[in-house]
Amino acid sequence: MGAVFAFWAAAETFEVFKTSEVCHNWGMERRNVVLTGFMGTGKSTVGRLLAARLGYDFVDTDELIVARDGRSIATIFAEEGQAAFRQWEAVIAQELAGQAGLVIATGGRLMLDEANAAALGRRAYVFCLTAVPETIVARLADDGGKRPLLNVLDPAQAIKELLEERREGYGRFRQMATDNKTPEQIVEEIVTTQVTVTFPRGISHNLLHFK
Ligand code: S3P
Repeated sequence: MGAVFAFWAAAETFEVFKTSEVCHNWGMERRNVVLTGFMGTGKSTVGRLLAARLGYDFVDTDELIVARDGRSIATIFAEEGQAAFRQWEAVIAQELAGQAGLVIATGGRLMLDEANAAALGRRAYVFCLTAVPETIVARLADDGGKRPLLNVLDPAQAIKELLEERREGYGRFRQMATDNKTPEQIVEEIVTTQVTVTFPRGISHNLLHFK
């Protein structure tokens, strides 16, 4: 009997839906979708399209920091150092964590910080966009010095080293390969990905206005 009850309770607690179903029909909240991944994996391009598709607002953390600070990322790095930029990321992560109905394209390292990931990932679906180093090098070839970490003698080598350094961190999130795909195809994959929704014990999605 105990085992049967335990099974019933557990079965009532989780249900699986497509990302788009949760974002469209979740009556109590519109969970954020957070995009993480290395520079050049398409977070901003995909994020904008995804937001339009879901009827969500789009936020790019890099753009928000530039708007708030009034300086470019390269200038913040040059004048105050990387730590000042990471401080900005922490402030923005906490702030956005309190909002819903957002697609958030995060700077490449933001979600590798534990506190940022805990805050932004808590009630959100997180996707880590990936690409092989060759794709990233090609996509960032005409970056125009916007990304200070790649403003070095050998950007291709820096990309490989940073990717290796961050492999484990990115590996914690749901992976979404972007090589040889259009942004539209990636959006389609994200909205059709099956995600788990947790309900308070004994409450089914019908009671929470799912259609
Ligand atoms: C960084 C990625 C950049 C930007 C900054 C640092 C990183 O954002 O936040 O240059 O450390 O990976 P994108 O991933 O949007 O290029």
